[in-house]
Amino acid sequence: MGTDKDTRLKNSDTFNDNQPIIIRRSTLEDLEGVIQVNENELPEDYPYFFYKSILDNYPESFLVGCNSKGEVIAYIMWRVEKTPSINSLKLVNKGHLVSIAVSNQYRRLGIATALLSNSMERIKKYKINEYVLEVRVTNYPAINLYKNFKFLTRSIKERYYRDGENAYFMTCKL
Ligand code: ACO
Ligand code: ZN
Repeated sequence: MGTDKDTRLKNSDTFNDNQPIIIRRSTLEDLEGVIQVNENELPEDYPYFFYKSILDNYPESFLVGCNSKGEVIAYIMWRVEKTPSINSLKLVNKGHLVSIAVSNQYRRLGIATALLSNSMERIKKYKINEYVLEVRVTNYPAINLYKNFKFLTRSIKERYYRDGENAYFMTCKL
């Protein structure tokens, strides 16, 4: 397990003077905090082993945001999928944004923007050629965020969520 120092990103960001926020790679010890943020902020919950397998397989792009007390207040996690490319039979790697969330009281400070830009850069290590994600069609904050990163809506996945809501399938070429 890395120390706090070597897991810290080079470009650690602070988002306001009173409460510096550190963006760094997630460790195993962070997962409880990640799960807590997920349960508070999103209706889609995952079992512990799901987070653990993403951290084991794609640690480079699994980032957390921590407040000055060291508490996890935000996270982002991606997985990499092999899919056939549209115009050939070649398999290509896609970075699939599994989940991002920022605790309610830390929103609108640019933390999601920092998590996305850092992780989109770092996930290139897995040789991907496209970023993909699903988002609820009514989730305007998230849709706006993704549009800022030049994601385009490719299709609608009908009744994608357990409660019946549709998802936009959004993609962004590298
Ligand atoms: N209304 C409209 N646009 C918004 C809002 C909002 N409430 N919040 C963020 N945005 C957009 C804006 O374009 C904003 O830029 P601006 O502040 O310059 O106008 C941009 O997103 C970036 O804002 P950040 O401050 O970086 O975003 P924040 O740290 O607040 O986090 C997030 C955004 C992650 C969507 C947050 O609202 C959240 O955690 N929501 C609940 C969880 C969630 O919906 N996650 C996404 C699910 S989809 C998936 O995970 C694949
Ligand atoms: Zn997905």
